[in-house]
Amino acid sequence: MARIAVFASGNGSNFEALAAKFKDDKIHNIVLLICDRKNAYVLERAKNHGVKFEIINYVKNSKKEVEDRILRILKENEVDIIFLAGFMRILSAEFIEKASIPIINIHPSLLPKYKGTEALRRAYESTDDITGISIHYVNKEVDGGELILQKEIIIDRDKGLDFLEKEIHKLEHKWYTKVAKDLCDKLEES
Ligand code: GRF
Repeated sequence: MARIAVFASGNGSNFEALAAKFKDDKIHNIVLLICDRKNAYVLERAKNHGVKFEIINYVKNSKKEVEDRILRILKENEVDIIFLAGFMRILSAEFIEKASIPIINIHPSLLPKYKGTEALRRAYESTDDITGISIHYVNKEVDGGELILQKEIIIDRDKGLDFLEKEIHKLEHKWYTKVAKDLCDKLEES
């Protein structure tokens, strides 16, 4: 059984999809949600799914203190793998090294295009015909780690940005859950 932590900051629709997936899966378990915003809707979702959460205050503490605390919590909960799902903080190179477990992120663009925030809107406002999602390992370069999977979608500007966002989310939920399951299965085998 892989013990999973999800890190999220906001709405948490990807957390929801992962929670549903691993509830059905019954092999791997989401044991922890790390969240940096006390009013984030993802906390409600965690409560509904009975997933333990920790709210981490990045404002009152130094980044080093915060990350040391997260590392302690990961250890206490024997976490094997981390999935970032809309986590709006950058993890330091020291954190990634000390955690020494796989950390995976999902990003709403075809990386290396549109790294960073507002990726979806920037793709929409470009002249690109297609955009998509990228699932990748996290390394010290923001949105620059090794790619695991990308899926494309056509940008239909007649239907608007909200429509594109919905379609991107559908893709994310479908493929992040699949990749997460596969990676956890592989972890189990190794
Ligand atoms: C997703 O689009 C993800 O790609 C990005 O942040 C967004 C989070 O959405 N990293 P949600 O909170 O999971 O609904």
